[in-house]
Amino acid sequence: MSQKVQAPAIDQPLEHLDDWEESLKARYAAPANGKAKEEFRDYRAEARPSVKEFYRLNHKHQTLDFVLAKKREYLPLNKRRMGIWEAMEFLNTLVDDSDPDTDLSQIEHLLQAAEAIRADGHPRWFIVTGLIHDLGKILCLFGEPQWAVVGDTFPVGCAFSEKVVFPEFFADSPDYQVARYQTPCGIYSKGCGLDRVHLSWGHDEYLYQVVKEYLPEPALYMIRYHSFYAAHTERAYDHLMDSHDREMFRWVRAFNPYDLYSKAAKRPDVTVLKLFYEELIAEFFPTVLDW
Ligand SMILES: [Fe+2]
Repeated sequence: MSQKVQAPAIDQPLEHLDDWEESLKARYAAPANGKAKEEFRDYRAEARPSVKEFYRLNHKHQTLDFVLAKKREYLPLNKRRMGIWEAMEFLNTLVDDSDPDTDLSQIEHLLQAAEAIRADGHPRWFIVTGLIHDLGKILCLFGEPQWAVVGDTFPVGCAFSEKVVFPEFFADSPDYQVARYQTPCGIYSKGCGLDRVHLSWGHDEYLYQVVKEYLPEPALYMIRYHSFYAAHTERAYDHLMDSHDREMFRWVRAFNPYDLYSKAAKRPDVTVLKLFYEELIAEFFPTVLDW
């Protein structure tokens, strides 16, 4: 029997969790019909009301205090013990109202990203990264609201960039009234490196913490920063990065097309692919991990 998201409905404006990714695709899609890339596309006007409401809640509630509280709650990694495939099956129990005949399951989405990376001849660590990169979305199954699981991530404790989607909603953040948090570097120092910077809480940071012992560094950057569009796509927050971050963000950018565009309509055959992926998982991960 499918498990329903536990957070109150008022916290769940998106009809499906994947609607956020659909909105990203619309925001960053190459203009059709040969229109010039510079042509202004107003994502504000095009965004669905549910997506706007989602960002309004996200920007209002993702404060520095909230992020620190979630880290205290989750980073002891004492919620569950399970293997990677088991976590994929657990995520698959996140059933919203999508149509099972036409919409892909979460496992199918993960396999599609991995298969697209594999088809392009990338190394095995890159393929496994594609497979697992969204497993942190199990936060939903621990009762977290959508705005604390998905959505573009951004640094907290320093000034919000205009390059973050719907920046006007930051006016509702309690942190907006804290002068110390509203300088360019805020509580951080120039060039301190992203590892010292708290990003808004969600599936990226959570999964990074779960798998950080087991994957090469480029994979960890991909996982930890794949939703940080303001940095990897809009090039904001450079003043908080160090030279190593800049080097590693090449990998984050290399990963992004697979995250955005690999979700084709074609249904992957889970039974056939499971053999290959179980072997791949065993190459990198212990049988059981702490979540
Ligand atoms: Fe993601």
